[in-house]
Amino acid sequence: MLPQWFNKWNRENPTNIYGPAIGVGVVGGAVFVAALLVSWGQPYATDSLQTGPRGTGMSVPEFESDLATPDPTIAGFLETTSAPIPPQGGEETAGDARDNVPPGLENLTVENYVRLLTAMRAWTGIPDLFEDAGSYQTAVGHVMIGMTQNINENWAGHVNANKEVGVTCYTCHRGQPVPNNIWFRATPTVETMEGWSAVQNRVTPLSQYTSLPSDALEEYLVNYGVIAVHDLESRVENDIANDPLIQHTERTYSLMNYVSNSLGVNCLFCHNSRAFYASSGQITPQWATANLGIQMVLELNNEYLIPIEGLYPPERLGPVHGDAPKAACKTCHQGYQQPLQGTNVIADWPELATTSGEPVYDTPADQAALTE
Ligand code: HEC
Ligand code: HEC
Ligand code: HEC
Repeated sequence: MLPQWFNKWNRENPTNIYGPAIGVGVVGGAVFVAALLVSWGQPYATDSLQTGPRGTGMSVPEFESDLATPDPTIAGFLETTSAPIPPQGGEETAGDARDNVPPGLENLTVENYVRLLTAMRAWTGIPDLFEDAGSYQTAVGHVMIGMTQNINENWAGHVNANKEVGVTCYTCHRGQPVPNNIWFRATPTVETMEGWSAVQNRVTPLSQYTSLPSDALEEYLVNYGVIAVHDLESRVENDIANDPLIQHTERTYSLMNYVSNSLGVNCLFCHNSRAFYASSGQITPQWATANLGIQMVLELNNEYLIPIEGLYPPERLGPVHGDAPKAACKTCHQGYQQPLQGTNVIADWPELATTSGEPVYDTPADQAALTE
């Protein structure tokens, strides 16, 4: 027990101890948090990539922790790639020495053919790919080889936009028979309704889980729909019948949202947001690369992936319409600005870089020059 004099003194001199106690707690807590931040670092620190001229506010912020973590699937490519073996002339060709050589690969040397076959099996996760001539995977695989060669040869402006990167089967497949981020038609999403409302206000992967329309990929990346909704003219006096409607704007935003998510960037990676209409001047170089990407995806879907619908077994087709599996930005990019963070995947694979069937191998002298 406390002595009497203390209780008496206490009663006569009432003091609010809560105020100072709270003060000490708050200051102590702040010092503690500050000490943690100083010693461990700010967990949500961001770094930003400036995409436009100074003063325009054009930048793409990213968490430093994300930037420090490389794409974990890069390792899977590095494990499966191998240097080409430049032919010395006079070797037996794969077409003569082997059975079931896919069209276009007959003129490879046996060594390079086996090297490529081994890699394609690893990249697609199909250990007996091209062994059974009658299997649908063989038939689909033949088309895939031509598609991959066409991308590297004719869309270099996209897939080598900054430096040599290119694509192989791994860019889409990542070790699995069915690539991630393929898509199927899903509209209408509201069966009891007709008309526009039937394509939106439903949470689907195609609308990026927003209320925006679910048919943007179908309209713009298969049907050649025109992406043009924003201009500086008054619509009042214009030709109302041909002007874009608010629905076209919503569908365009649905596509742009998809594009941004596919690359893990925001709109300012490509646009100055005061001028979404601009196709020169107020755009970034990436806008032009993206524009080419849209043309490339239209071709991949219309010339390669949709025409092979009849080759697939029913379980590979779309759940709603039984349509062929299709590709788009996310199938290659998988959330990164450049697929596999810009890893050069084509340097080792001249066989997949040309549709001519006659790959160009660097001579040992060329290679020495490159490494000098
Ligand atoms: C642009 C992306 C892309 C590239 C590059 C690509 N593929 Fe494909 N591949 C697809 C899509 C999309 C499908 C359809 C998925 C399905 O079969 O359900 C597919 C399916 C396949 C299938 C059928 C798998 C199955 O079990 O249904 C095979 C085999 C295949 N690809 C082989 C290849 C080979 C070999 C290469 C490289 C020479 C390659 N692909 C490159 C996108 C790609
Ligand atoms: C990777 C680059 C890229 C990103 C990121 C991007 N866009 Fe676009 N955007 C384009 C390209 C390219 C076009 C032009 C397509 C065409 O003309 O066929 C376009 C067109 C548009 C249009 C139509 C312009 C017109 O002429 O009417 C709007 C609106 C738009 N984008 C808004 C957005 C918004 C909003 C975002 C962010 C959610 C965004 N974009 C993100 C590349 C991009
Ligand atoms: C077949 C695979 C593939 C598809 C599909 C694809 N891309 Fe790409 N894209 C690439 C590759 C590979 C690069 C890297 C080129 C380089 O950095 O040299 C790239 C680079 C880009 C860049 C430049 C990034 C930078 O840092 O400069 C943009 C922007 C882009 N793609 C947008 C798109 C959009 C938008 C789509 C869909 C309409 C798309 N891509 C579809 C393979 C693809």
